[in-house]
Amino acid sequence: MRASAILKLALVALSTIGVLGHPYLSERELQEYKLNQARGIEALGNCLASPEMHEHQKRMIEERTAALQHIRKARGVEFTLESRDKLSWLKWLSSTHEKHGHSKDPQDLFNFKWNEAPKANTAGCVLTPQSIYGPFWKDSQPERQDLRAGEEGVYMRLAMQVIDVTTCMPMQGARVDAWHANAMGTYSGNATGFLRGFQWSSGHGTADFDTIFPGHYTDRATHVHVTVRPEGGKRYAHEGMIYFDEGVRGWIERNGAYKNNKQELKLNQDDDFAPMSASDRFDPLVQWQWVGRYISDGILAWIALGVNASDMGVPQPRKRTFDDHLDR
Ligand SMILES: *[C@@H]1O[C@H](CO)[C@@H](O)[C@H](O)[C@H]1NC(C)=O
Ligand SMILES: *[C@@H]1O[C@H](CO)[C@@H](O)[C@H](O)[C@H]1NC(C)=O
Repeated sequence: MRASAILKLALVALSTIGVLGHPYLSERELQEYKLNQARGIEALGNCLASPEMHEHQKRMIEERTAALQHIRKARGVEFTLESRDKLSWLKWLSSTHEKHGHSKDPQDLFNFKWNEAPKANTAGCVLTPQSIYGPFWKDSQPERQDLRAGEEGVYMRLAMQVIDVTTCMPMQGARVDAWHANAMGTYSGNATGFLRGFQWSSGHGTADFDTIFPGHYTDRATHVHVTVRPEGGKRYAHEGMIYFDEGVRGWIERNGAYKNNKQELKLNQDDDFAPMSASDRFDPLVQWQWVGRYISDGILAWIALGVNASDMGVPQPRKRTFDDHLDR
């Protein structure tokens, strides 16, 4: 047996142990999840590179650029090209998903060329219909753009775009829910509490939230939960999670309220869910950039969400009761 074959076998054995030991999903549910992910990842990658999407992306990026200028102005950020330490900047560029925040040109900023043949922008997250929403899910979250409700933390504009992978078109009028933990790694215990809410997706499929960077909590890599309910919320929801570079998490968690988070830290690389969203040509982490010179100015993070509108999933979400006690 060749060495590479032995290695593959070892990896299969390892991942089987992971499957059997999974705290949230049964083995069957996990297999289904993986299959949906693999199909969706391929489809979303193709959509992001399609000529149909190009026009939408162009206009969306213009809107996003305008939004960033607006955020900088509103937060009093003096942003100049020379203001930043060059070395630390280069270090970030080589190791993270941070985009070129110094450029005034949206084409550099969002890694998108107006006049080039479209190519896949690889930051994406595939949402699949699930029978289980995991812990902390609350229906009837309020409609709001700003989720912060007074929570302390580093400001984050989370800019998402929903794409129907069956048509490669932006999904308009879908209900997009987002929820995540606060700086201490705690979720609000009711539907109207902090760091929860929904918006309707725009004509370009976008839903942008003002929130804070999520804190970590025991047993999971840092993430934001998202559901999308197509057709004005009437269709069954697709669920997914959004992940962040460990680099940006580490920098942010050295500040303010995050410093008092005593929960166990789990890295992306050790997470059970995160790797399922990746493939060799697909990157499940958000792309991001600092809003200004200082971490306290906040970050802009963006990602495409792939949804298969033909896939209805199960009729009713179910929440695992054994997770209920975790609702803090
Ligand atoms: C909902 O949760 C928030 C934060 O956890 C709390 O401040 C608020 O009082 C709660 N509201 C209700 C109705 O329980
Ligand atoms: C979308 O869902 C349908 C129904 O489950 C399935 O037949 C199809 O393969 C899916 N398409 C993609 C791109 O995932």
